[in-house]
Amino acid sequence: MRVEPGVRALVTGASKGIGRATAEALAARGARVGLVARGEDELAALAADLHGDPVVMPADVSSRESIEAAVERFAEEAGGIELLVANAGLAHYGPFFDQPIENAEEMVRVNVLGTIYTVSAALGHMRDRARGHIVVVSSGAGLRAFPWGAVYGATKAADRGFAEALRHELSGTGVSVTTVYPGEVESDLHSHQRDRLPDWRRDENTIPSERVADAIVAAVEEDRREVFVPPAVRALGLNGLAPRLTDRLVAAMRGPTAAPRRD
Ligand SMILES: NC(=O)c1ccc[n+]([C@@H]2O[C@H](COP(=O)([O-])OP(=O)(O)OC[C@H]3O[C@@H](n4cnc5c(N)ncnc54)[C@H](OP(=O)(O)O)[C@@H]3O)[C@@H](O)[C@H]2O)c1
Repeated sequence: MRVEPGVRALVTGASKGIGRATAEALAARGARVGLVARGEDELAALAADLHGDPVVMPADVSSRESIEAAVERFAEEAGGIELLVANAGLAHYGPFFDQPIENAEEMVRVNVLGTIYTVSAALGHMRDRARGHIVVVSSGAGLRAFPWGAVYGATKAADRGFAEALRHELSGTGVSVTTVYPGEVESDLHSHQRDRLPDWRRDENTIPSERVADAIVAAVEEDRREVFVPPAVRALGLNGLAPRLTDRLVAAMRGPTAAPRRD
């Protein structure tokens, strides 16, 4: 699908980081964008800077009613929906044993159920017209989960599995699916716990959100099954075949806290 004027694109988690950069990239190419996040003020400020009459839709993706209402409103105001970027997500890092169970629940609700609710709400509009593209933002952690990110990694692996199967299921319907695997990206994902990040997570390795956004737009236009940003993230996929080798690889790159066991 060409991203061009006439395309109606809904982005969740649009107020910050990857979602914001993606909304900007889509609007710059002439798409009409729908902006979803909980924080209305940030969305309104973003909308004021975007071309193409963006639609601001404060909503919580972890509430089925809330995201369904937002998707319906966008489809009505824009007259349809061709592109969905299911990106909203959050992370709480820390040893699982010490982690408040509420943090785990929140990640599952937002990252897993939120993605499923969002796709479910938008898919009917795309299938009705036999045209659409769904982008699910997983993570390198969905390919190989890291210590202190057990639940986060589990949610991102769930996103991966959901999107993989959906791409096959939707074969022949005119609706396609791309899974995105970002590595470490500059954003607000860890703003609430900058002083308590795992040793293997290093800010010097981060890439700008705009790089992920450009990769998403290119992947939609090329109908790519998956996109790894930066490309080295693809190596984490080795974990499925050779977990010990992958442990050695991540320990060499990020130090022993990335793989304390090698057996
Ligand atoms: N940054 C990384 O290194 C990295 C790496 C791999 C994958 N990812 C994935 O990329 C996606 C975007 O993350 P980011 O790094 O751009 O983080 P971010 O800068 O913190 O942005 C997260 C966005 O999601 C929104 N959001 C959070 N909870 C929400 C909810 N319940 N309902 C609606 N919107 C919600 C936030 O706005 P409100 O708080 O106002 O709702 C914000 O707009 C996430 O799925 C994350 O797992 C990030």
